[in-house]
Amino acid sequence: QKGMIVKNMSFKVGQTLTVVGVPTPDSTNFAINIGNDDQEITMHINPRFNAHGDENTVVCNSYQGGNWCEEHREGGFPFRQGEEFTVIIEFTPAEFVVTLSDGSAIHFPNRIGAEKYSVLNFDGDVRITSLQIK
Ligand code: GAL
Repeated sequence: QKGMIVKNMSFKVGQTLTVVGVPTPDSTNFAINIGNDDQEITMHINPRFNAHGDENTVVCNSYQGGNWCEEHREGGFPFRQGEEFTVIIEFTPAEFVVTLSDGSAIHFPNRIGAEKYSVLNFDGDVRITSLQIK
């Protein structure tokens, strides 16, 4: 598996994760995955420029028990290949609220239901330049 993995971190209810990155100039898609290992992803955030039949769409999902679950499409698409983006992920008691740089938001339930996650996995055509948990 390629990409960047952050392990042994602590992202808890009440905290906000801010991700800054730059999709490659020829990026087809990339993903921000939040979980406890690479087999259980409570939230997959997958901006698709052109991938899996989608154009300029953010697809969210969870990966549980070896399967992708129900896809969720919400929010705008303020991403451009080769240009820096910021994604803000708030971990509320009820759900994850993802705010994109156009001000649009994605609301996604915490399907695995833990109050703390320890692994971030960045996959696909992207370079991550900054991470902050506050
Ligand atoms: C699949 C894709 C996965 C993931 C999933 C989300 O089609 O291969 O990488 O994005 O959709 O539902």
